Amino acid sequence: MSNNLLKGKKGIISGALNNMSIAWKVAEKAYEQGAEIVLTNAPIAMRMGEIKELSAKLGNCPIIAADATNEQDIDNLFNQSMEHFGGKVDFILHSIGMSPNVRKGRHYTDVNYEWYRQTLDVSAISLHKMLATAYKKDALNDWGSVVALTYIAAQRIFPDYNDMADAKSLLESIARSFGYHYGTSKKVRINTVSQSPTVTTAGSGVKGFDGFINYSEAMSPLGNADAEACADYCVALFSDLTRYVTMQNLFHDGGFSITGVTQNVVERFASE
Ligand SMILES: NC(=O)c1ccc[n+]([C@@H]2O[C@H](COP(=O)([O-])OP(=O)(O)OC[C@H]3O[C@@H](n4cnc5c(N)ncnc54)[C@H](O)[C@@H]3O)[C@@H](O)[C@H]2O)c1
Repeated sequence: MSNNLLKGKKGIISGALNNMSIAWKVAEKAYEQGAEIVLTNAPIAMRMGEIKELSAKLGNCPIIAADATNEQDIDNLFNQSMEHFGGKVDFILHSIGMSPNVRKGRHYTDVNYEWYRQTLDVSAISLHKMLATAYKKDALNDWGSVVALTYIAAQRIFPDYNDMADAKSLLESIARSFGYHYGTSKKVRINTVSQSPTVTTAGSGVKGFDGFINYSEAMSPLGNADAEACADYCVALFSDLTRYVTMQNLFHDGGFSITGVTQNVVERFASE
């Protein structure tokens, strides 16, 4: 159902790899709500991915390849997006995460430091690079909105999340710090959305993901939030209905983050 919440708005959406990606759902919902979209992903993801199919669904919107760790690529992404839109951008979704240590099964106590650096660069510093590029180019409209996706492992230990936990802590800190500077000078708001575990390519890469997602389901009064619900929340944050929300880490997790225990879990541990 469309309420035209994003009518007239123009946005850049990163990270749509396939139809399971959270970014894919966000792009579909934002378009449905009247936004014009530019899609972006790493060049390698273009070769593997189904992103052209998504672009076709969104009125053949442009797809601009950009490695989010490469400042030149990001510069080009903003130049081309502004040229396409004929002006500035209203919202950005940062939906990018990758850890070579997770992928290759290196334990947190024995990480490969070059891979660790890549984890932080791809999954967190890329947000700083996007924001710094947009800031210098004055590419975002006043009251624009930037959302980056994160996970509660930034605050609490989830052992198999490995060095991604450190990346998410940094990502959330960048959102706060840049949110201050971009807010005072341009009224641009920047938030992170801390999403429930969700079955996607990145999500399923975490060891023991099955147990992880079932535990989270049992510990969330509303159950795990799915990718579509996350997309609805992102749309709300891009819209003018949330103009004074900024520098926040917003939990979109069915209540998981504030629950000590649920009856469901207690019963599993009861002796009879
Ligand atoms: N799936 C979950 O359980 C879950 C939970 C909370 C937060 N998140 C976060 O949501 C975001 C999206 O992940 P997803 O679950 O939709 O998985 P996904 O695998 O569909 O998306 C991850 C994306 O990151 C992109 N990417 C990787 N390296 C890149 C680079 N160098 N430059 C540009 N793009 C690059 C990939 O191509 C891919 O599109 C990530 O930040 C992830 O950490 C996911």
